[in-house]
Amino acid sequence: MDSLSLARLDDPLAAARDATAEMLTQRRRHFSLPQPFYNDERLFQLDIQEIFSKEWLFAGLTCELPSKGNFITLEIGDNPVVIVRGNNGEIHAFHNVCRHRGSRLCVKESGKVAKLVCPYHQWTYELDGRLLFAGTDMGSDFDLSAYGLKPVHVRTAGGYIFISLAEQPPAIDELLETMENYLDLYDMDNVKVAVESSIVEQANWKLVIENNRECYHCNGAHPELLNSLQEFDDSEDPRATPAYKELVARKQGEWQAMGVPWELKRLGRRNRLTRTPLLDGTVSMTMDGKQACKKLMGRLPSPDLGVLRILHLPNSWNHFMGDHAVVFRVLPLGPQKTVVTTKWLVHKDAVEGVDYDPERMRRVWDATNDQDRRLAEENQRGINSSAYEPGPYSETFEFGVIDFVDWYSERMLENLGYTSHLSL
Ligand code: FES
Repeated sequence: MDSLSLARLDDPLAAARDATAEMLTQRRRHFSLPQPFYNDERLFQLDIQEIFSKEWLFAGLTCELPSKGNFITLEIGDNPVVIVRGNNGEIHAFHNVCRHRGSRLCVKESGKVAKLVCPYHQWTYELDGRLLFAGTDMGSDFDLSAYGLKPVHVRTAGGYIFISLAEQPPAIDELLETMENYLDLYDMDNVKVAVESSIVEQANWKLVIENNRECYHCNGAHPELLNSLQEFDDSEDPRATPAYKELVARKQGEWQAMGVPWELKRLGRRNRLTRTPLLDGTVSMTMDGKQACKKLMGRLPSPDLGVLRILHLPNSWNHFMGDHAVVFRVLPLGPQKTVVTTKWLVHKDAVEGVDYDPERMRRVWDATNDQDRRLAEENQRGINSSAYEPGPYSETFEFGVIDFVDWYSERMLENLGYTSHLSL
């Protein structure tokens, strides 16, 4: 085999890397991306390798791991990951791959174990990843310490668990500090998941995020959501009317007096945190705008706190209200297949059937998620056409989409080893 063939074997995506970098370098900014970014298998593999395996991802919540031995699993492309609470309360993340012959170790989405035991031949690992016991006879000189689970970078803040498969992940400290600050009053160690849903959308993950990053479509698509949501993205939204600005100023004064963080905070294009008002007279994302849970979250002083929105690219958006929070996680399954997991959080002492009705709580976002699924899937079907060509975004209505596509392009180019042409 000549060296060129070997190189291709080493990196079957080598040509796709160059082509991707060229397309991104030459793309028209403020236009949607070329078709392959939305439907090509090789581009999907690059998204997994260069974005989802190198950036920080929102994986889950610390409340899902209430005590030692609790675990959750997820898959980043072909990489299964397990996150487990250790014996001293610490949180670990590992590649969910047995060091014997590679079987997936934890096969359930969540659970509780005393040790991590491989179902194949029962190799047994401590919760901190050390191999304790190799069931098969490996010989007297077998070194258990050489076969611990491979760690995955994990950081937590404000009840959120972020992981990165990168050898050297990007900086995340500023986000973690900000999350701690904004979520302190929500006491995220004392929340629980009241309701959870996962829907699979037949659309590329970027279309799911793009759809989330604008409310241009809300008026025609989301009647339930608009019972409480303001269509303005944040206090700097260029569409903001004088009436909205007046409401924002009034609410910010109230929140300031209550000691509740509300400032618009951007960390590059990757993160945005801000508290914005809901429609005047509403306090929660329910059909009637009233509380979905009688018990407020954490130490919040009032149910009337608008909505704290937290964006984390590439895979999460979040809405925190006084009585409950709705947390979203996006994971790509294929070039045109994405799973969106939604979790509704309440105070851990809130009692189902007494303080909240799960069906009532989930109704607005169940409807909205399904509407968004259809929008993303129709977007995908049109993009798959030979007639598709990148179209222009509105700077007034779709600035959030522009930000996302700029972030994606910059990160992809940098992770591919190219310098972005954007001055971001
Ligand atoms: Fe895990 Fe054999 S593959 S014990």
